[in-house]
Amino acid sequence: MEKVKVSAPGKLMLFGEHAVVYGFPCIVAAVDQRMQVVAETLARPEIVIDAPDVGIIGYTKKVDLLKNSDNLPKGVQFLETAVKNFFEKYQVKTGLKIKTTSKFSSQFGFGSSSAVTVSVLKALSLLLEIKLSKKELFKIAYRTVLDVQGVGSGFDLAAALWGGVIYYVLGGKRIAPLEVKNLPLVVGYSGVKADTPSLVYQVNQLYRDNRQVIKSVFKSIDILTRQAKKALIKKDFSKIGQLMDINQGLLDALGVNTLKLSRLIFAARKGGALGAKISGAGGGDCMIALVGRESEPIVKSAIRKAGGKVIEVKISAEGVRVE
Ligand code: MEV
Repeated sequence: MEKVKVSAPGKLMLFGEHAVVYGFPCIVAAVDQRMQVVAETLARPEIVIDAPDVGIIGYTKKVDLLKNSDNLPKGVQFLETAVKNFFEKYQVKTGLKIKTTSKFSSQFGFGSSSAVTVSVLKALSLLLEIKLSKKELFKIAYRTVLDVQGVGSGFDLAAALWGGVIYYVLGGKRIAPLEVKNLPLVVGYSGVKADTPSLVYQVNQLYRDNRQVIKSVFKSIDILTRQAKKALIKKDFSKIGQLMDINQGLLDALGVNTLKLSRLIFAARKGGALGAKISGAGGGDCMIALVGRESEPIVKSAIRKAGGKVIEVKISAEGVRVE
C-alpha cells in the first residue's frame, strides 16, 4: 500500500479520572469527533509532517535522525515519537508523508494526542503491511504517551482504538467494552486548556502529603465507578446522575476543580441535569451533564449563561478505522 487514510475518535471520561492512574478502574466513552491521518510512503528517507490544526506545515526530519527526540516541537511530539517507536520495534526505515486533520479543537481535552498516536500507528501498520492487533497497537501507543508526557493511564488510547464505552484499568490491564449506546450528555467547555500531566503531578503531591485520606478518596471513586458500570448497563439514569455528582465531590477533594468549572456544573444541576461533573483531569477543559429530553435545552442555556461553551458531541463512536 502506498497511501492510507485512517481516523480515530476523541473521548470523554465518564467516571474514575485520577484514581485510574493509581490502578483503579475508569469508564471512558469515545465521541463522534475524529482525528484523521493520511499517510503515504516517500522514496527519500525523510518524515514530512503537516498538522495545520496545530500550526505545523512541512516539518521535515531525516529518518536516521528520528532517534534524536529531545525538544521536539509540541505539535509533532506524539506523532514523531509514535513513528520512531514503530520503526524501532519493527526495524523499518521508510520515508513518509503524514498529514493530520482534526474535527475538533485540541483545546477541549478530547484526547487529540491519543487519537493522533493511534491513527498514525494504525496507518503505519497498514502502509508497511505489518499486521497488528488492537492490543499490540495499544502497547506501542502507550509507550509513546509515556515517552512524551511521562504520566498517563492510557485510557484515552483504549477509547481511540476500541471506540464505544469502555471499562478500563491502568496500562490496558482490563479493556472491557460496555453495551451503552445512548447517553444524553451535554458537554460544556470552560474556555481554559488544562495541562493533564501537571494535574496528575499535583494530585500525586496531595497523595504523598495525605496518603491515608487520598487513598480512601480513590477507594470511594473505585466503588462508585464499579456501581456506575452496572447503572450504565441497566440505563438507570437517576443512579448514573447521582454517581456523577458524588464523583464530582471527590474530584473537588482531589483539588482539581476550578471556579469556572464549578459554575458550569452548578448551572447544569440548577437547570435540571440528573448529575454533572468534570470530565478528565480538571483545572479546565470540559464538564459533562446528564440530561433528560426536557432539561437538555435548559441545561445548555444555563451552561452558556454561566460562561461555558456547549460542544455538540455524541457518544459512542467507532474506534480506529480506515476511511
Ligand atoms: C485525564 O483526562 C485523566 C487522568 O486520569 C489522567 C490519565 O488517566 O491519564 C487525570
